Amino acid sequence: MQPRVRFDPGRVAAAGWLTSSEQRALYSLARWAQGPFLEIGPWLGLSTTIIALGIADSGEVKEFVTREYNPTLANFRPLPDGTIGLFIPADSTESMGACSHESFENDIRPIVAGVQGVIGQLTDNLRRARIDHLVRVSVGDFRELETRTYRFVFADTMHNALEIRRNAPQLRRFLTVGSILACHDTTAENERLLRELFSFAVDFRADSLFIGKIA
Ligand SMILES: C[S@@+](CC[C@H](N)C(=O)[O-])C[C@H]1O[C@@H](n2cnc3c(N)ncnc32)[C@H](O)[C@@H]1O
Repeated sequence: MQPRVRFDPGRVAAAGWLTSSEQRALYSLARWAQGPFLEIGPWLGLSTTIIALGIADSGEVKEFVTREYNPTLANFRPLPDGTIGLFIPADSTESMGACSHESFENDIRPIVAGVQGVIGQLTDNLRRARIDHLVRVSVGDFRELETRTYRFVFADTMHNALEIRRNAPQLRRFLTVGSILACHDTTAENERLLRELFSFAVDFRADSLFIGKIA
C-alpha cells in the first residue's frame, strides 16, 4: 500500500488561478489516475506543477505533455463591454474568454509583453519547481496536435459556451472510454453544455473544476 501524502502548496512556484480545493483535486487525480496525461493551457505552470507533483508522488512513470498556445499581445483586444478578450488565432472574430481590464493590465500584459513571453516563464517555473524532467512542453494550438489517446486530459480552455463548442470536437480526438476529462472555470451553464457534448460515467466538481470519466 502506498504511504499517504498530503499535497503541500508550498511546493508550487507559479502564479495562477486555481483554488486550494481545485489544486488538491488535480494533485489527487494526477497521483491516482493512469497516464498518459495531456494538459491544455498551462499558462505559467501552476496546474502543470501540481499535476507533475502528483505524478512524482505516485512513484509511477506517467507520460505528461502540456500544450500552450503561447499568446502575444496580438491575441488580446477589448470587447464592447470593456473586458479584454483572448482571440486564437489573433485574427479570429470569436473571443475564447475574457478578463477585466484591471486583471489584464496586472496579471496578463506583463507576461505576454515580457521578454520571455509565456513559454519562457513557464519553462523557468517548471525548472524552479524541479519538475521539468516530468513534463514535455509543446507549443502551439492544441487543435493541431496529432490524434492519440490520453487517459487524463486537463483542459483549461473551456471557459465559455463558444470555447466549449469550438474545442469539444477536438478534445474528443484525445479521449476514449475510461479517460478522465477535467475542465476548469466550469459554471452551471458550462456544465450543462459539457454533459450535452460528452457522455460521463461518473463525475464530480471541486469548486469550478469539473471532473468526469468518459462513458
Ligand atoms: C486560464 S489560462 C491557464 C491557467 C493555468 N492552467 C493555471 O493553472 O494557472 C488558459 C491558457 O490556455 C491557453 N490556451 C488557450 N487556447 C489554447 C489553445 N487552443 N491551444 C493551446 N493553449 C491554449 C492560453 O494561452 C492560456 O495560457
